[in-house]
Amino acid sequence: MKMVDLINSKRSGASHSEEEINFIINGMLNGSIPDYQASAWLMSVCFRGMSFDESSALTQAIAKSGDLLDLSSLGSCIIDKHSTGGVGDKTTLIMVPLLAAAGIPIAKFSGKGLGFTGGTIDKLEAIPGFRTSLTIEEFLGQVKEINAAIASQTGNFTPADKKLYALRDVTATVDSIALIASSVMSKKIAAGANIIVLDVKCGSGAFMQSLEKARELAQTMVEIGKRSDRIMSAVITSMDQPLGNVIGNGIEVFESIQTLKNRGPDDLKELCLYLGGIGLVKAGKAKNIDEAKKHLGKFLENGSAYQKFLEMVKYQGGDIDYIENPQKLYTTEFAFELKAEGSGYVEKLDALTVANAAKLLGTGRDKKDDLISYNTGVFLNKKIGDKVYKGDLLAKIYANSIEDGKKARVILAKAYVLAKNQVKPPELIIDAI
Ligand code: URA
Repeated sequence: MKMVDLINSKRSGASHSEEEINFIINGMLNGSIPDYQASAWLMSVCFRGMSFDESSALTQAIAKSGDLLDLSSLGSCIIDKHSTGGVGDKTTLIMVPLLAAAGIPIAKFSGKGLGFTGGTIDKLEAIPGFRTSLTIEEFLGQVKEINAAIASQTGNFTPADKKLYALRDVTATVDSIALIASSVMSKKIAAGANIIVLDVKCGSGAFMQSLEKARELAQTMVEIGKRSDRIMSAVITSMDQPLGNVIGNGIEVFESIQTLKNRGPDDLKELCLYLGGIGLVKAGKAKNIDEAKKHLGKFLENGSAYQKFLEMVKYQGGDIDYIENPQKLYTTEFAFELKAEGSGYVEKLDALTVANAAKLLGTGRDKKDDLISYNTGVFLNKKIGDKVYKGDLLAKIYANSIEDGKKARVILAKAYVLAKNQVKPPELIIDAI
């Protein structure tokens, strides 16, 4: 088999066999296929796409390039969730303790973020002392004891994905449904859960800006998972405005705590109950989504989901004082207010623009090793559909310098568009597959 022939066949739109895909992935990892050939192949995949069978073979090859986590000691129904990433998405921080409080063990590997805000691991690292780096033994041991752990991936998981992603990042080949789906699903399969709930975001602040593309990505990931004997579900949710009311790292932990105490914003609570509810239904623990949501809601109401979060933070060495006094998580020297210059209804609150304002405050990173700030962020006092009077507080900015705060305010002002007539807030849950 020769790589040049495989590039040629993909370039002309042919399908690869499983054997050919294994040859490519193994060759990229052992160095027998040079980066220039791998890059040419990635570009051909971008243009020609892949069938479900090809994407599934690619996923398996990437998953098997490293260790596969065995979660069988935790039980027979292990749920994992994945979000394709959006502005203000802190659902993992809520869903893990929520499901754990409901008696479902969750062993969640998460990552640091690239882009406007940090990933789940960055958010947890806003809690002083919180250890995100656990050995596999510590990770599984903790789940056995308290049902919940969130850690950064250690060990040798999906090395082929790291290699592929690094190449995609510098060859403009990130943006391919087949490559994104295989990258995400290989990590989910290596992480060992047998029930996978996917939240595919759609809108201005998401990877997939159109509903059509979001649906295609969701469908591809579901098909890949099914071919690997996983119980799959995907939900397409709106990312035209940020999720919840805050964007940042520590401030998102604050909002997660509020939600776990049943005092969080409605959209965030609804999404967590919906995604968790699907997990319960798929695990055979509830008859339908309404019953599952009602059941999970009780753990927010009675405080046990919050207690579980507290327990997890204690277990992982985090300073409980920051959980009991969570405003400490976003204490900055400077705060700026954005006030409405007119009256009306919020018609638009562009997620990407809000994200850019937060990024300017230091909440995200461009490169893996960039430093981020944990305490800065944005609080959105008004969201789409809200009535606004001239002079009302639209948003508050928490900044570490006057210059950053003022610049962020200028950007944030552009995110808001007011209309004279009443506006209906967008549907959060668009479709389920
Ligand atoms: N997230 C991933 O894990 N992989 C991609 O390719 C894109 C987003």
